[in-house]
Formats: sequence, structure tokens, C-alpha cells
Amino acid sequence: MFSPSVFLLSLIQFYYPLIHSLTTEQFHTRYSQYKARIEKQLRQLVNNEEPASVYQPIRYVLEAGGKRVRAALVILACEAVGGQSSDAVPAAVALETLHNFTLVHDDVMDNSSLRRGRATVHTKWDTNVAILSGDEMIAYAYQSLLKTTSTNIRKVMNVFTDAFIQVCEGQGFDKEFETRCDVTLDEYLMMIEKKTARVISASCEIGGYIGNGTTREVNALRTFGKSLGLAFQIQDDLLDITGTEAQLGKPIGGDVLEGKKTYLLLKALERAKGNNKKILLNVVQKKQLTQAIIPAVLDIYEKTGALPHARKQVELFTHNAQQALNRLQPASARTMLSMLAQQLLERNS
Ligand code: IPE
Ligand code: IPE
Ligand code: MG
Ligand code: MG
Ligand code: MG
Repeated sequence: MFSPSVFLLSLIQFYYPLIHSLTTEQFHTRYSQYKARIEKQLRQLVNNEEPASVYQPIRYVLEAGGKRVRAALVILACEAVGGQSSDAVPAAVALETLHNFTLVHDDVMDNSSLRRGRATVHTKWDTNVAILSGDEMIAYAYQSLLKTTSTNIRKVMNVFTDAFIQVCEGQGFDKEFETRCDVTLDEYLMMIEKKTARVISASCEIGGYIGNGTTREVNALRTFGKSLGLAFQIQDDLLDITGTEAQLGKPIGGDVLEGKKTYLLLKALERAKGNNKKILLNVVQKKQLTQAIIPAVLDIYEKTGALPHARKQVELFTHNAQQALNRLQPASARTMLSMLAQQLLERNS
């Protein structure tokens, strides 16, 4: 029989999520607003001038732009569970500063000369400056995080500290893998979960805690962030060899030259034969690595199907991330998170 209440309920169930749908243009406008807010806070984070050898590079790094993904995730995750964005801003600044610290030290460890289209800190100044300014950025990150007023502050601090520990462990594995010839894809996934996915999942988790999300909601946000982070690093590996320096703002082929055990290299190694295998083994063993080898390696990645395979993995992890969001109530911030995952999948920078 026709029941008006059942009919009304079905209508609401169908249309309610649509109320929160956004066009791509609306997504970009809103994302730009968050970004502008973060940029402003990052400019105000450090006021000291001396010693100039510490404060100049810190400003140089914090004002260099970047996508500000981690900061946006903190704010969006907070809003997605019904919290106020203003409550999440100090933590957003903290996560972005933690991320920027990792970049300064990462560029030393990876011998990278360019970041966001500009000379890296150890190239523009020197390695000692990069070590010290990176270290102090962590202190500023904690200082900002401590401005958070939330009954969940202890949880927030614990998650942040865990992310800091995990990223250091991940970077440790990344370096150890450079000199190992038997790294497996499982080990690679463990390594990127630590070096990249944890800071991203912690951003989501922290936003959820600040917004007073339920345990179920915070867990969903952490799962979303973890899958998004795994997708993000495989995509970063892909862009390292398929992107352009102009778009990426970092040198192309650096992973090959440093003998990094990327998803692409490990997958291609499984499949390559003959001379192709020999070339890849040179990369693995860091033998005769010059710029000239990069096009040949890219060619092997294409021919072995490692490239489309890696793209599929990025899509899969992105899909998993988006699925996790279904455990949250429909809201425009939830839509933003899902669209952000999609945009990152399609990114070229
Ligand atoms: C680069 O991160 C380092 C990785 C974890 C792969 P991003 O690609 O987020 O760098 P920015 O902050 O946008 O420059
Ligand atoms: C870096 O990974 C992850 C960090 C913890 C910084 P990559 O070394 O691949 O990052 P990029 O390519 O230099 O940005
Ligand atoms: Mg690195
Ligand atoms: Mg690097
Ligand atoms: Mg990279």
C-alpha cells in the first residue's frame, strides 16, 4: 500500500546527499578560500628575525606555496563531523608545518636541488642550515598545535606525535631500501604508509577529534586518510618520471638517479626480461646512474605495463578512500573530501 511516510523517507534518502553536491568550480573556490586562510596563518607563524640563518630559510619554506593538502584535510575533516573550521586552523597550520619540515630534510636525504620551483634550503644555504631550520619548524608546529582548544587535545597531541614518529621511520626505510636489492611490494607499501600516509591520515584524524566526531567517524576519517596517502605517494612516484619539471617544481627522474624503490621500479622488475631487466638491475644496484638512463627506464615502465598498473593502484586506493567517507553523514565538507581525493588523482603537480 502507498504509505506517505515511506514515500517521504525515500525522497529524503535520495535527495539529501544531492543537497551537498558541489560543482568542480565550487570545489576550487572553496579550496582556494581554505588555502588563503592557511597561507595567512603560515606567514604569521614566525616573527623572529635572528639568527637570520634559521629564520630566513623557515620563512622561505613556509611562504613557498604548495598544495596545502594536509592543512585543508584538517579543516575539512573537522567540518565533516560538524565542527567549526576556526577551531581546526591552529592544528591545520601545525600539520602543514610538520609536512614542510619533512620536505626540508627529505631534500637533503634525496639530494634534491629544486622544490616548488625554487632552490632547496640545503642548496640555497647549506646542509647545517637545512637541519637546524627543519628542527625548529617542528617546535613551531607543536607551538601551533598547542593553541588548539579542544577537550580532545591529548588525543590530538598523541596522533600528531605518532605521525611525527612514523614519518621518521618511513624515511628511514626509504633510505635503507636504496641499498637493498630485494625490497618487496609489501615492504614498499609499509614504507609509504609510514613516510606519507600517516601524516595525511593524522591530518584527517586530528580534524575529526577537534570537531568532536564520534569514534566511528574519526576511524572513518583515519581510514580515508590512509588510503588517500597511499594513493598520493604512488601518484608522486608516477609524476617523478612522467611529469614535467615546470609543473611539478621538482626535478624529474630523481627517484631513478637515487635508486629509490618506487612502486614502478618494483613492479617493472617483476616483469622485465633480457636487456630491460639488466637496465633495471643497474638502477636497483645504483650502477652508472646518469640523466641519460631516465628515458630508457620510462620506456621499460611503459612496456612492462608497470605504468598503467601503478595508475590502477592509485585509482583503487582513491576509491577505497572515498568509500570510507560513506561512514560519515552527508555534508558539504564530506563532498569536499571526496572531491579533493578525485582532484589529487588527476593532479600533475
Ligand atoms: C610532497 O608532498 C612529498 C610527498 C609526501 C610525496 P606534496 O606533493 O603535498 O608537496 P607540496 O606541499 O604540495 O609542495
Ligand atoms: C617524501 O617522499 C615523503 C616525505 C616524508 C617528505 P619523496 O621523497 O618522494 O617526496 P618528493 O618527491 O621529494 O616531494
Ligand atoms: Mg624522499
Ligand atoms: Mg624527495
Ligand atoms: Mg617523490
